[in-house]
Amino acid sequence: MKVNTAEFIISNSDVAKCPNEPLPEYAFIGRSNVGKSSLINMLTGRNSLAKTSAKPGKTQLINHFKINSNWFLVDLPGYGYARVSKKAKETFQKFITDYFEKREQLVCGFVLIDIRLEAQKIDLEFINYLGEAQVPFCIIFTKADKISKGKISQHVAAYRKQLLANNWEEMPQYFVTSSTEGTGRDELLNYIDTVNQEIFKNQGFK
Ligand code: GTP
Ligand code: MG
Repeated sequence: MKVNTAEFIISNSDVAKCPNEPLPEYAFIGRSNVGKSSLINMLTGRNSLAKTSAKPGKTQLINHFKINSNWFLVDLPGYGYARVSKKAKETFQKFITDYFEKREQLVCGFVLIDIRLEAQKIDLEFINYLGEAQVPFCIIFTKADKISKGKISQHVAAYRKQLLANNWEEMPQYFVTSSTEGTGRDELLNYIDTVNQEIFKNQGFK
């Protein structure tokens, strides 16, 4: 799929104030600094569409970007930055869990994971939370430019093992990406295109 237009629409911390058009949307979530905003820029080919920073905690709100006038990419704040809590659900900001639980237009959550790191407790908690909330999601490994090709498959295999040990029956669909090198761009856009076409074909989207 070609991205012809990408426009910022609105930022807010209230799901009720998100755009009310019935268009499919895909949301990027993951630890602060994992590369959510950078990936949105890479996918759209617009370097400064979503704001990025070397310091964690840059994105603070729910940000809607309209693509090709008929679907949305959504940039969310990171989790795991200066937020500690015992109850898994409280670990994540209320407006983020509200977004995942209430947003009818959400088609798929993309959970971003830094390919260099072993599975982190907070990522597994978020993945388990999505499973319990029955939110469809994919895993996106980021920063693949930072390790060798051989290490990439080793790290993906280790992740699969961790998820299976966490009672997941299979590895969710996943993508390996690098925002600096454009890795995974075609695969991800094709995936979104296929899902969008299915939705538009069935005219099932209210
Ligand atoms: P928050 O908004 O704070 O939650 O962070 P974020 O997940 O949106 O991360 P952001 O896109 O702002 O990127 C964080 C840092 O990682 C920046 O310095 C980016 O340049 C860098 N970065 C992001 N993706 C990649 C990548 O694929 N490769 C490399 N080498 N650096 C990356
Ligand atoms: Mg960000």
